[in-house]
Parts: sequence; C-alpha cells; structure tokens
Amino acid sequence: MVYQLFYGFGIITCTVILFQLIKFITPYLLPSKLEKYRTGNAYALVTGATDGIGKAVAMELASKGFNVIIHGRNAHKLNAVAEEITAKNAACKVVQLLHDGSKSSQMDITCLLGLPVSILVNNVGVGPIGEFAQMTNQQIDETITLNATFPSQLTHNLVPYLKQPALMLNVSSYTALLPPPYLAVYAATKAYNNAFSISLARELEHMEVISLLTGSVHTGSNKKPVSFMRPSAATYAKSILGIVGCGRQRIMPYWPHALQTGLISLLPQPLIDKATKAALKKELVSKG
Ligand SMILES: NC(=O)c1ccc[n+]([C@@H]2O[C@H](COP(=O)([O-])OP(=O)(O)OC[C@H]3O[C@@H](n4cnc5c(N)ncnc54)[C@H](OP(=O)(O)O)[C@@H]3O)[C@@H](O)[C@H]2O)c1
Repeated sequence: MVYQLFYGFGIITCTVILFQLIKFITPYLLPSKLEKYRTGNAYALVTGATDGIGKAVAMELASKGFNVIIHGRNAHKLNAVAEEITAKNAACKVVQLLHDGSKSSQMDITCLLGLPVSILVNNVGVGPIGEFAQMTNQQIDETITLNATFPSQLTHNLVPYLKQPALMLNVSSYTALLPPPYLAVYAATKAYNNAFSISLARELEHMEVISLLTGSVHTGSNKKPVSFMRPSAATYAKSILGIVGCGRQRIMPYWPHALQTGLISLLPQPLIDKATKAALKKELVSKG
C-alpha cells in the first residue's frame, strides 16, 4: 500500500515536472510569427532606438523587411542610426522622432498618423544604480516620466491608429520580479511596464501584446562584457523577434535568462537578498 502510494506520488511529480519543462521550452522552439505584421509596407516604431536594445531591434526589424520609425533624444545619433539602417537595407524607409521622454511624456506623433504602423516597441528606459536617498527629486521624476508615463501616453495616442494585425512589445526587466536594492525607482517602473503590458494584453484581444522581462544585456548602459548569460544587444534583439507569436503575455525572450531566474527563485529569499545586495553594492562602489 505504502509502495503504491509512493509510486503514484512519483508518477504525479514526474508528470508535473515534464509538463513544466514542456511549458518552459515551447515558446523558444516555436517559429516566430513576426512575418504576419509585415503586410503592406508596414512600419515598426521603436523608442530609444539610438543605442543598445532599441537600436538592435530597429536594425533587426529593418533586416526583416519592415520600414522603421526610430525615436531618440539626440539628433546626431538618430541620423547615424538612420544612415546605418539604410546602408544595410536600401529599400527600408526610416522616419526619425526626436523627443526627450524624461522632460515631457507627450510626444508629437502627428507625422505618423498616415503611416501603416503595425508594431510598437516600447523600449526606452533608464535606471542608474544608486542609493535611493541620494537621488534628487528631479531624477525620480524624470525616471518615472521616461520609463512609465512616456510609454503609457505614446501607447494611448498610437494604438487607435495601428494597422491590424498589430503587435506591441514592452521592454520590462527581471527587476520587476526580483527588485534589487539600489534600483528602487527603476525596478518600480519596470514592474509598471510589466503590469501595464499584461493588463493591455488581456484588454486588447485583437492585438498581440508581450511584456519582455529582460535580464542582463550588453548595451550602452550596461557595459559589462558579453557572455553566455549577458548577450549582445544584437543577439537579444533576435531573441525578442524570435518569440513573437509565442502566445505568452510575458516572457524572458532569451532562454538562458529564464533558466537563470527560475533557478534563482528556488533559493531561499534571505540568500537571494544577501547575494543581490553584495553584487549591487560592489557595482555601486566600482562606479564611484
Ligand atoms: N541592458 C540591460 O541589461 C537591461 C536589463 C533589463 C532591462 N533593460 C531595459 O532595456 C531597455 C533598453 O535599455 P538599454 O540597456 O538598451 O539602454 P541604452 O543602451 O542606454 O539605450 C537607451 C536608449 O534610450 C534612449 N534614451 C535614454 N534617455 C532618453 C530620453 N530621456 N529621451 C529619449 N530617449 C532616451 C537612449 O538615447 P541616447 O543614445 O541618446 O542615450 C538610447 O537610445 C530599457 O527599458 C531598460 O530598462 C535593459
């Protein structure tokens, strides 16, 4: 009897583990459905597209045949990215949007309203590491404006004009799930991005909306060297576009990040807290 009970429990445990494993790997094995958004000269708008992940996503979308609208705050960098995109993809039309999203959450998008925009990538975001008490009131306001209010207002103003079928990708962060010390405002805005995205995915059923829980990626603001666990922005952009159509409302597009976060979350919380604090403190000290 006891043997049968253990046997039954073992079968159930193995089935649950197998189910979780299949659930984990499926989105990364499915072919991307990005192509379905490329009808009729479609445009993709990427915010914060002059560096890092945003630039890499814009480049990757252009290479897949999309026209792109690139947003940034620096006219020279916008021009340089536009030139780089057209040098590699002669047929690609590039529109530039110059706007500092930390100063004002309202960007003028009237120039886009006649264009067949089918993809919105809310990528822009900053989060300098530092002690909360040392942040100025202005830094707090600007971080929240850029990371949370700006994408909300842009989404509100653009979504009614998106050409169907439409896709929205919202770049959130692992910090939304495991908020570390010294990044309080940033982590809070990334939790906002995640909740905003999931809520919209449930509301706007005619659109595909995905929250991208991003781990460490080598970019303009994260200069730590590229490694297996810290992909280049170009590799990460491929992962992002690879999971389009995966059927999830939120996902870590780069599977090693998902595995890492899954394993970390199995550890006792005090241990996670201690290790994260030590790592972040070291980073804080090294930045002076
Ligand atoms: N890299 C990571 O490890 C990591 C991890 C988790 C989440 N993320 C998220 O990924 C997204 C992109 O980050 P990233 O690492 O690629 O950053 P990045 O390399 O620093 O690029 C940020 C982009 O946003 C633009 N930008 C910054 N402040 C702006 C402002 N006030 N107005 C308009 N544009 C502005 C930058 O313009 P300039 O070129 O003029 O600076 C640049 O184009 C962010 O939402 C970030 O939270 C990144």
